[in-house]
Amino acid sequence: MKVLVIGGAGYIGSHVVKAMLAAQHEVTVFDNLSSGLLGNLFPQAGFIAGDIRHADDINAAFARGFDACVHLAAFKAVGESMSEPEKYSVNNITGTLNILNAMTAHGCKNIVFSSSAATFGQPEYVPMDEKHPTNPESYYGFTKLEIERFLRWYDITRGVKFAALRYFNAAGYDPDGEITGLERNPQNLLPIVMEVACGMRKELQIYGQDYDTRDGTCIRDYVHVSDLAVAHVNALGYISSKNESLTVNLGSENGVSVTEMVEAARRITGKEIPARYVGRRPGDASALYATSALARKLIGWDPKFSDVDTIITSTWNVYRMHTEKKASV
Ligand code: UFG
Repeated sequence: MKVLVIGGAGYIGSHVVKAMLAAQHEVTVFDNLSSGLLGNLFPQAGFIAGDIRHADDINAAFARGFDACVHLAAFKAVGESMSEPEKYSVNNITGTLNILNAMTAHGCKNIVFSSSAATFGQPEYVPMDEKHPTNPESYYGFTKLEIERFLRWYDITRGVKFAALRYFNAAGYDPDGEITGLERNPQNLLPIVMEVACGMRKELQIYGQDYDTRDGTCIRDYVHVSDLAVAHVNALGYISSKNESLTVNLGSENGVSVTEMVEAARRITGKEIPARYVGRRPGDASALYATSALARKLIGWDPKFSDVDTIITSTWNVYRMHTEKKASV
């Protein structure tokens, strides 16, 4: 199929491009490079520089004729979404409407959307399945949930089939070492831990040690980005062949605490990784993890890299390489 990967130069997007190419799709990336990197592009994929906030850009892209798109272009910092909601409205919501309208104008009928566990908000029970109530705690989570609702209406009114993939905590890097772009100004636990391991940051601050969990720190579900990428390929196969939409959780189903992640990172990197406990971060749930039974059943998803050691080792390989490169200059 001819697939447009919107946000394909980003961290998750580049892994999706690799998986789509491996599945013999003809891939074009659309990206404004605001956080995506030219270095993340694959030579086998085409590239269109453009911005989803500009309807003309995205219309011109779809005018080239695509069977499907994967939409990963979004702002994703939970904290920032609360202080600068306008930015999230325009990029995440208006940008997605521009995509949907361009799709319908040019006859593209399939969209795989990167949704988030942030659509759920505070867990009422774990593991969380797709029936868990959706009460986002952040404006970011609200934008993702609102987009899922738009998708449902474009399915009803325009016959656009969608796959909404609710990622839990995406982490890790391509185990083949082909994708090596570092996220700028990372906000998530593992890249921050890696920056401390490389000496780019002095210490890790661990937010809260008084949660009702086995060691007092928050439990999350870390899922390898290459496993997520394969889910996009499988989901596209499902919606296009069955002409049916779907919404599924994507997690490893394994809850890991912050302390456990840090200890595993110390063991794997051999670095001290200084860490200090500080107060809780507002909005953090104590334990969040998924059941991905539905994804396994519907799209045959079978995560292969989502164990803690593979996630950390594949990430460390990339950070170590960058540090060694810098040291040799
Ligand atoms: N953490 C620290 N110190 C840090 C960074 C994080 O202790 O410097 C802790 C957090 O408090 C949390 C855990 O590490 O307990 C994971 O935090 P992240 O910021 O990496 O991830 P979140 O679970 O907060 O959020 C992630 C994505 C969101 C997504 C959500 C869905 O960043 O986009 O998962 O579950 F919505």
